Amino acid sequence: MSSSVIGIDDLAMATGGFRIDLADIAERLGADPAKYYRGLGQTEMSVVAEDEDIVTLGAAAALPVVERAGRERIRTLLFATETGIDQSKSAGVYAHRLLGLPPNVRVVELKQACYSATAAMQFAAALVARNPAEKVLVIASDIARYELGSTAEPTQGAGAAAFTVSADPALLALEPAAGVFTEDVMDFWRPNHRVTAIVDGHSSISAYLDAVAGAFDDYRAQGGSAFEAINRFCYHQPFTKMAAKAHQYLAKHAGADVPTETLTAQVAPTMGYNRRIGNSYTASVYLALLALLDDPADLTGERVAIASYGSGAVAEFLTGTVMSGYRAQIRNGTNEQILADRPRIDDNTYLARQRIMPRSDPSNYGNRHETRGPFRFAGVREDQRIYEATAPR
Ligand code: HMG
Repeated sequence: MSSSVIGIDDLAMATGGFRIDLADIAERLGADPAKYYRGLGQTEMSVVAEDEDIVTLGAAAALPVVERAGRERIRTLLFATETGIDQSKSAGVYAHRLLGLPPNVRVVELKQACYSATAAMQFAAALVARNPAEKVLVIASDIARYELGSTAEPTQGAGAAAFTVSADPALLALEPAAGVFTEDVMDFWRPNHRVTAIVDGHSSISAYLDAVAGAFDDYRAQGGSAFEAINRFCYHQPFTKMAAKAHQYLAKHAGADVPTETLTAQVAPTMGYNRRIGNSYTASVYLALLALLDDPADLTGERVAIASYGSGAVAEFLTGTVMSGYRAQIRNGTNEQILADRPRIDDNTYLARQRIMPRSDPSNYGNRHETRGPFRFAGVREDQRIYEATAPR
């Protein structure tokens, strides 16, 4: 079997089990809710249940993808995250068991802030080029935590995206040109001893814009399309206003003469899920792609850009074209339902969950059963994390 068309075959999502409206956080912080709704482009954010973590979210996102792909076709699982749960064991190995994948699978975790799922996608494409019979499963899963009371607090969130990369993909055929950019900057990082990230918010925005422009220039130098020949743009979305800012910046940088309404239409349909989930780090740009594909407009044949950014900093800019028949592969109603099903919690309930209290015995503890997802993190016994499938609720 040989195929020159390689790309994303299937894509699904999961998110934290609860949500908080950003108006509730604005009230506590003495901010105008419009600053978050309009200034950041965020209305709410997902909050994880006590027995949810990056493994349960990632496996929940991947379950429908694996069931549709067939477990025997998947020979590689790449788990992208920046909120790792262990210094040596990959979160992907836990997900591999929960998903019921066979033993003959290579599993590894990848890290570079919010960027690593895009590296995973490129590595996956190379593996598929070598063996077009295999499908590679990529899981991107993260829980974004900043200091409570900081200006970054309303840009937290939690979510996962899972996708397969294969020959003859059903959703998006990747084009060969890709632009990459790396610069050692300290805009956002999380030392091993910290649960919350350290961030220089305003300089992180400049670092993001510079890196995406650098990646776009490289994309053009590698033979990529002109800005005007790209129909839609999926950006990494720490908050959705960032995508709008990046798009205006890139259009100017590229010298593109595109009317403002067109620029808006090129990014607006990518924001629907991230606006309600918050920052999901590695998953964010793929949740943007998912929202775009779920949009009612027919995108068949359109060229879509993926502009991926991870602080620190690495960016990649690449494009793909939407396959004909892609609508048969999407699960639009399901994704809307996932968001609608999250009960709203008030600020006090949210604060009680987010305050990080040292555990009396971090080597042994149990978690309450709260999640409505297919898998749960039941607790820790003798320093081993216990994951289990949940009974349908
Ligand atoms: P801030 O400094 O409190 O906000 O925090 P601000 O004063 O800059 O205001 C934000 C926007 O709201 C502005 O819009 C205001 O004008 C507007 P802009 O001028 O930028 O277009 N505004 C209002 N709008 C309507 N009504 C009002 C109102 N008041 C103000 N009443 C900041 C914002 C993003 C800095 C903060 O939330 C933060 O530090 N967040 C975390 C860092 C971040 O998300 N950086 C993004 C780029 S880096 C990245 O994406 C990587 C990352 O995902 C991590 C990774 O890679 O792993 C973070």
